[in-house]
Amino acid sequence: MKVLVTGGAGYVGGTAAAMLLDQGHEVNILDDCSTGYADTVDPRATFFKESLLDANAVATSLSGCDAVLHFGAKSLVGESVVKPDIYWETNVSGTRILLDAMRAASIPTLVFSSTAATYGEPKEIPIAESAVTDPTNPYGASKLAVDYMISAQAKAYGLAAISLRYFNVAGAFKSQRGWLAERHNPETHLIPNVLRATASNPLKVFGEDWPTKDGTCVRDYVHVVDLIGAHISALSAAIAGSHEIINLGSGGGYTVKEVIAAAESALGRPVPYEIAPRRAGDPAVLIADITKAGKLLSWKPERDLQSMVGDALASFQ
Ligand code: UFG
Repeated sequence: MKVLVTGGAGYVGGTAAAMLLDQGHEVNILDDCSTGYADTVDPRATFFKESLLDANAVATSLSGCDAVLHFGAKSLVGESVVKPDIYWETNVSGTRILLDAMRAASIPTLVFSSTAATYGEPKEIPIAESAVTDPTNPYGASKLAVDYMISAQAKAYGLAAISLRYFNVAGAFKSQRGWLAERHNPETHLIPNVLRATASNPLKVFGEDWPTKDGTCVRDYVHVVDLIGAHISALSAAIAGSHEIINLGSGGGYTVKEVIAAAESALGRPVPYEIAPRRAGDPAVLIADITKAGKLLSWKPERDLQSMVGDALASFQ
């Protein structure tokens, strides 16, 4: 199979490209490196350092492809609140250009990288795909808008599509070329920040007064290798004319302090941290209901929190 991976110079997209290449598939990567890194692009892939907003470049990058894994997006919740326009442009307009180009080239299958941020503040835990979608920031709203576009495209033109709504992705993949580390600038995610905390720059724990067992927020962490395994299954599970939405998480949750404890065990030393005020927009608890992923993709995550923290640490060394 030949797959276009948009956002293939990023952490999650780069992992997808490397896993597909290790499995013997052909990969084209489209990434403008606005947040990704050209030096992480797998040399076995054909790399188009171009924007999703450039319709000609998108059409060229699709040449000969059987399917698309679409990761290319802006994905910082805080940034989306202060610069919403770039979220509409890259995430919504960029996907519209991609969908048009796929239709023009008769490419039948799309797997879209979506997010739990489409649900907003949960009314019920665990969160099933049937939950109300009421995003609390432009990032989540832009990804939800794309889901509506994809549904309409599937109905009107027969696209086979699956949107995968991620909870908290962590860990790292060691490809035949070596580790692919999570790399964001600025880094906002918990596990990299925990592993890099020092006495002079301690981790900030955003709130210790949440209604949870130890007062810190609960999140549902899923290993990036398990996550991409679900994408590869989705490529063959997608059905023409249908758009399925599927949660990807572990179905369980850990508090921030439990993540710190797992990191301390991997590091063999205490993690310096201090309690900081709550971060705007953080819900107390987010846990996925992953029943649908089991049914439609025959998928269940195999790697636990200790392996996510251990692999992230190995990838940073
Ligand atoms: N946290 C800290 N200190 C840090 C970083 C995070 O205490 O330095 C806490 C957060 O408050 C939160 C938890 O650790 O309770 C996880 O935070 P992350 O920033 O790692 O992840 P989020 O749950 O905020 O966001 C993730 C994705 C988003 C996606 C969201 C969906 O990164 O892209 O899940 O719910 F939108």
